[in-house]
Amino acid sequence: MDTQNTALLKDLLSARRSVRTFTEKPLSLTALDAFLYAGQGRTSKDGKRTAPSAHALHPLTLRVVVRQVEGLVPGVYLHDSPTGKLSRIGDLIDQGTLSSAALGDEQWLEDAPAVIAIVAQREVAIDRFAEQQADGLRGARYVDFEAGAAVQNMYLAVTAAGLGGVVVMGFDDLRMKEALRLERPLFPVALFCVGHPLK
Ligand SMILES: Cc1cc2nc3c(=O)[nH]c(=O)nc-3n(C[C@H](O)[C@H](O)[C@H](O)COP(=O)(O)O)c2cc1C
Repeated sequence: MDTQNTALLKDLLSARRSVRTFTEKPLSLTALDAFLYAGQGRTSKDGKRTAPSAHALHPLTLRVVVRQVEGLVPGVYLHDSPTGKLSRIGDLIDQGTLSSAALGDEQWLEDAPAVIAIVAQREVAIDRFAEQQADGLRGARYVDFEAGAAVQNMYLAVTAAGLGGVVVMGFDDLRMKEALRLERPLFPVALFCVGHPLK
């Protein structure tokens, strides 16, 4: 056993916390890239990623609402898992739109310099795993589970970088789908707000 790595991981796990208040300091692109890699980075030639996926289906994609990231024009970006590249696919979402789709008063959806959306081809997973369970719930469960693994990876990467983040899943699915301008078959599973913690 590599005791140094084990101790390092234990430290990260112990320090991980949800952070909901951020300074106005922009996020560096290097930090954002590291968080996206932790969430859905490609780790093998056959397309495997940092987070596990049932049947290696990999139904998840990351999109980023970029408000203040060094070197990036504000807007909505798509993360390409195989290359790690970010491409701008739309203008910035209007202030107040993300939080208006939330079930609670989630100001951090508006204040974070970047909000990473974990979106899924949910129906594709439901169809693929219908043979395991006819009601389709298994595919949906797998998608949620995989998003959880991706989010935990990002929590740990954010902790390692000395920054802060929080996952938000309390939102109206259809309103958030609209807010993020997701086309079918994409479905919003979770949002991860990241930034420099306000101490
Ligand atoms: C499935 C799930 C959904 C969550 N949804 C929200 C949310 O909508 N808004 C929020 O502020 N925090 C949300 N959280 C973060 C939890 O509130 C947080 O993990 C909990 O308070 C424990 O704190 P910790 O993460 O610092 O250990 C969610 C966490 C999980 C696991």
